[in-house]
Amino acid sequence: MAKSSLGVAVIGAGMAGRAHIAGYRTASTTFEPGLGEVRLVAVGDANPEFAQDAADRFGYERAETDWHAIVEADDIDAVSVVLPNAMHREVVTALLENGKHVLCEKPMAPSIADAEAMVATANEHPDLVAAIGFTFRTSPAINAVKRELEQGNLGKPYFFNGHYWCDYGCDPNGPMSWRYKGGPGSGALADIGSHMIDAAEFLFGPVVEIRGGTLATVVAERPLPLGAAVGHGATAVSDKKEPVENEDVATFVATFASGSVGTFSATRVAHGLPNSLGFELFGSDGAASFDLARAGEFQFSDNTSSPATSGYRRVLIGPEHPYITRGLPMDFPGVNYGQNDLFTFETRAFLEQIAGVGSLPRVPDFAHGLRNLRLLDAVVRSSQSGGASVDVR
Ligand SMILES: NC(=O)c1ccc[n+]([C@@H]2O[C@H](COP(=O)([O-])OP(=O)(O)OC[C@H]3O[C@@H](n4cnc5c(N)ncnc54)[C@H](O)[C@@H]3O)[C@@H](O)[C@H]2O)c1
Repeated sequence: MAKSSLGVAVIGAGMAGRAHIAGYRTASTTFEPGLGEVRLVAVGDANPEFAQDAADRFGYERAETDWHAIVEADDIDAVSVVLPNAMHREVVTALLENGKHVLCEKPMAPSIADAEAMVATANEHPDLVAAIGFTFRTSPAINAVKRELEQGNLGKPYFFNGHYWCDYGCDPNGPMSWRYKGGPGSGALADIGSHMIDAAEFLFGPVVEIRGGTLATVVAERPLPLGAAVGHGATAVSDKKEPVENEDVATFVATFASGSVGTFSATRVAHGLPNSLGFELFGSDGAASFDLARAGEFQFSDNTSSPATSGYRRVLIGPEHPYITRGLPMDFPGVNYGQNDLFTFETRAFLEQIAGVGSLPRVPDFAHGLRNLRLLDAVVRSSQSGGASVDVR
């Protein structure tokens, strides 16, 4: 049922929370008219400075330090949950049970049992949108490659090599945070590998088998922060250290339903690479590659060039590609976009879905979030059994 006014809130004003907070602010300015008024109501964070600062900067009506106030507010319809993963289930469940639409960050939860419970709650509220934030599904470049695959321009899929390499864990004196706590699989695999395997399925279709799982922790302990540790930022640290509980590096091999194969690695100790989600993919008639460090382009090779000039070529993203026309204020070829813009596209799609308007692809649902966790769990189980094959059909 279309609603003329939607009140939004974001719980968690850390690194990704701010991207959601900014996304809602811009979402109503993009794509087709008809969404109606988007009221920027509340930013919630246990840290009062974070909540107030973000509310002030981005023009939200109020800041809250207790997330229950957002759950109970009558003027809020839709909420992004951008909290440490261990909090997702409790907060999401309370929101759905109080009639709020939810966009929950990935990974959906720390365990499959938590995620199953969240799916069950969502199913009890079919009138509410319960979505998971696999942000890269709104990447214009990744969607452009997907379109070429779907149109058959790369032929039969053969091989996918995916990575998500970050350097936020390189410094052994970087502060301990929630990212380094939790069991095997909750480290680099869940934090960034979740995006990588999701992008692989988005492009190459369902994975049916995972094998060769390997998890490694290379920085065994980290100092406790003296101040608030947000995102990947540095902060003063104490002399006291705590053990790192999860992996810095994860690698595995996958087989897709198409019969094609993929190799994958995710790490948070990739020196000099702050944020490199990338892939190379090869089909019978072409190939494509992408690196988030150059978000506004992809490399492409097909059979349309003469042998004398064939090979990879650089394609700059522009209005010919998904999400650009009216998605950006200046939608001219080569103007470029960044990861922050993807949050605008994602929050816009979420609001369109709630309002029953627009034409953006739907935001992934909770069943999708659970599926992603099952893939991560298969990597862990493979690693615990010497790299054995795990069926994920
Ligand atoms: N989609 C993406 O590209 C992307 C990128 C980064 C992070 N994420 C996801 O977003 C989530 C948050 O990650 P982050 O990097 O923003 O973390 P962060 O540590 O930077 O921020 C978390 C925030 O939650 C707040 N918080 C902690 N406990 C709270 C409580 N009880 N009540 C209210 N606020 C509380 C903290 O004060 C902090 O501001 C994670 O699930 C992560 O996986 C997604």
